[in-house]
Amino acid sequence: MRVVRFFLVFAFCVQVFGYDIQILEEHLKSIEKNQNPEELYTVLSETLEEVVRQAPSYRCLASAEAVNDFIDAKYIPDTFFNPGALHDFVGYSWTVYPKFLRAYAQLNGLVEIDQKYAAQLFQQGVISSDRITSFMTTLNQAKIIPILASQTNAKYHNHYEFDSQEEYYNKINKYLLLEDVQLKALKSILEELKLPIASCIGSPWRVVNVRCWKSHPRELQYDVEGGWHTDGFPYDAKKIMLYPKGCSHEIGTTQFISGYDVEGPPGTWLLFENTKIWHRAICPQLSEKAQDRLIVEITIAPAYKFELEPICAGHLALWPLTPW
Ligand SMILES: [Fe+2]
Repeated sequence: MRVVRFFLVFAFCVQVFGYDIQILEEHLKSIEKNQNPEELYTVLSETLEEVVRQAPSYRCLASAEAVNDFIDAKYIPDTFFNPGALHDFVGYSWTVYPKFLRAYAQLNGLVEIDQKYAAQLFQQGVISSDRITSFMTTLNQAKIIPILASQTNAKYHNHYEFDSQEEYYNKINKYLLLEDVQLKALKSILEELKLPIASCIGSPWRVVNVRCWKSHPRELQYDVEGGWHTDGFPYDAKKIMLYPKGCSHEIGTTQFISGYDVEGPPGTWLLFENTKIWHRAICPQLSEKAQDRLIVEITIAPAYKFELEPICAGHLALWPLTPW
């Protein structure tokens, strides 16, 4: 039935639009200024109509579900956070634009879908040892900087009202400043992750923030209140957690509420549905030789082409207000 609707929708299209991506980019820039959800949907659907028209028929069939997801999102935006907290346009654009990108990627045959990720909502792997060793060498030289409540990023949704927590977080963690040398080594790791991550999210992607910190060993390995949370991000702003020193319950990791502990050798990475899966950080167990838990958190957003240059938007920045 959905496939039939898909063909009906496009059979009645009378206007033909080019889908030159530069034209789309121009449209999106102007929509970013006027914040008009109807205009956004119109521009994206017109672009997609042209992509559908030009796609080989077998791809049309294979991609019908992705296109239908986009069509269904027109009136039913995802509710990923308290809608009263942000302007509606932000939630709406984060709902429809990633769905547009998935349909675009499927229609153009850009990405194979990772069925395992779709079923279990996470995927993990290990970065090759030479790359992680080089990166680790650069991290050992990184400067420590404080996390400051004043350092919010105007283009991002941030950890707000952080003043009362500033002292606590600077006590339990050490935040690392990533400079050119660290980011260059990280870029090579992101190249290795390019296709595995695209298969999980269904489209190419871009980096929107990289944060890195060490958590000190503790007697109680998680927050006193239990530490369970979801991240409250738009569903399509996701995190890759990279554990350059490896991860386990003993040396520190991430734990899902199902009881699953992420475990693996140096270079283990995890991509997960951070706004769907309840999870918490597990700090290293306090003992004489215990070391800090080292974590690199890479926040990504779907994109129509890969942009793997690491970006540091700040330790308080969570996800960009505009999804493109
Ligand atoms: Fe989290």
